[in-house]
Amino acid sequence: MKNLSPSDPRNFRQQANVHCANCDGGYTQLGSPKLFSVHNSWLFFPWHRWYLYFFEKICQNLIDDDTFTLPFWNWDAPEGMQIPSIYNSDLTSPLYDCFRNPDHLPPTVINLDWSYGDKPVDPNIQIENNLSIMHTQMITQSKTPFDFFGKAYRAGDDTPPIGIAGQIEQTPHNHVHSWTGTISDQTNPIDLGALYSSARDPVFYAHHSNDDRMWTIWLNKLGGSNFTDRDWLFTNFIFYNEEAKPVRVSTKDCLDTTKLGYKYEDVPIPWLDVSAKPKPRAKAKTLPSAPGPAQVFPITLDKPINVIVKRPKKSGTGSSEEILVIEGIEYDERNYVKFNVYINEEDVNACRPNNTEFLGSFSNLPHGHQMIVNTSKTFRISQVLEELGARDYDKVLVTLIPKSNPVKINGIKIEFEKS
Ligand code: C2O
Repeated sequence: MKNLSPSDPRNFRQQANVHCANCDGGYTQLGSPKLFSVHNSWLFFPWHRWYLYFFEKICQNLIDDDTFTLPFWNWDAPEGMQIPSIYNSDLTSPLYDCFRNPDHLPPTVINLDWSYGDKPVDPNIQIENNLSIMHTQMITQSKTPFDFFGKAYRAGDDTPPIGIAGQIEQTPHNHVHSWTGTISDQTNPIDLGALYSSARDPVFYAHHSNDDRMWTIWLNKLGGSNFTDRDWLFTNFIFYNEEAKPVRVSTKDCLDTTKLGYKYEDVPIPWLDVSAKPKPRAKAKTLPSAPGPAQVFPITLDKPINVIVKRPKKSGTGSSEEILVIEGIEYDERNYVKFNVYINEEDVNACRPNNTEFLGSFSNLPHGHQMIVNTSKTFRISQVLEELGARDYDKVLVTLIPKSNPVKINGIKIEFEKS
């Protein structure tokens, strides 16, 4: 693929450009001047599945072997938690890419919620953290198709910001990108570290096969279901096929992987029963005093903040599932942005991702053109508060820890889930 003529759409670089063009405003939506984007929404999973499908078809065709299938990089299991050696052992291999973080080469264990500047920790601790992160993202925080796939992105909508993205796209997907690809300079990440260039690294395709595998696990083992919304089912995408001809496909035709010619090997899924645990405490917790949202926001998050947030009172019918909403998060799309979120924890430095008190993070992979976006981030907290023994508290302590250039935040609230 690397040796094909640059004018051939099956050329490796051109395949990478297909990804770039679909994520960085290379096309407008059909019948609308709005830009099209395959990230940060419910299109993430179907578009990337089709992208891998055609990449695989092209490989099969070029090597004249239709039994060839893409491998998956199972970063969700301890044996897979480093860059797979086939991509890294031989500098002359076409699978090698020099734009990977030199501090993260094997045997460094991946950090599935990595922030720029995080240093590698003890591998066994990192593995425990990663398994809890997987459990949290796939199970605790992914109850509905909107949680898992992302929110709706329909014809005529603006390019969606990261707040619309599904749980898995945000974490671990984005962090596998930035952990692998980002070299020290935050302002100019390339290859896996930025969306436009990410498919230039051959390990991209193995990373995304595992993201795609999460879709099948969520459906087959965790009781998840696909959307039945016609706007999702009938969204069309255009790709080049193995004959270098453009073809139009839609979401509804990629839902059954056996029709696309593959199914995932049934390997162990060690995170299924490794949930996060509350930090051990000597006595019941009393919350420290901290200001409320009205005194804190709006704020530019340039240092850690504590906020005491009131819980809503239940009245009448409707969902009793409580959602923590961090709202009005403003930043420039071209920037790497990340902050971590904790609940009912004063000593966040002593808290790890395998503690229930760590809710997760908000992060943006750099892409696009200069554009200030305004988005929000939600966490399901009912089960978390239950596990923390905080069911009867009328307020909670929320701590935000910045992990990047400052981002502006306009508020925090807790509300019941809207149906
Ligand atoms: Cu289209 Cu992992 O990105």
